[in-house]
Amino acid sequence: MNRTLVICKPDAVERGLVGEIVRRFEAKGLRLVAAELRRVDEETAALHYEEHQGKGFYKELVTFITRSPAMVMVVEGPADTWQIVRTLMGPTDPAQAPPGTIRGDLGTVLTENLVHGSDSAVSAAREIAIFFPDLAAD
Ligand code: RTP
Ligand code: MG
Repeated sequence: MNRTLVICKPDAVERGLVGEIVRRFEAKGLRLVAAELRRVDEETAALHYEEHQGKGFYKELVTFITRSPAMVMVVEGPADTWQIVRTLMGPTDPAQAPPGTIRGDLGTVLTENLVHGSDSAVSAAREIAIFFPDLAAD
């Protein structure tokens, strides 16, 4: 089995869309192995979004992801589960995301794009270790 990190971002929790988002992953055949509602602090956000430090949108991104609780999860599925999750999420900008995807169906704003999914197997391992260190050895 293969695991990846998923975050229902603060906008998803605020809008009451966590159930809808988790439903889509479960209906696809992925399984939750960890889930915690938590407010991501600045230090954790900086680690998680390390690759974006210095970019124009970085400050806005950290302000957003830390503003209220997020549902942080590890999901499990077959090979390349990270890719299955990214397909269900849709492209980064909800305004461009096609219908049928989480971002395409539920959002319109680039920053408030509802959901995060690791973008590679290497990212998945790195991000699971940040949020769920107890699972990292599994
Ligand atoms: P995420 O990491 O949150 O799953 O999103 P992603 O892979 O689809 O997109 P990524 O390139 O990693 O960007 C991370 C988040 O930064 C915001 N963003 N803003 N203003 C901009 O040009 C811009 N570009 C990216 C988005 O909220 C994106 O989810
Ligand atoms: Mg990303």
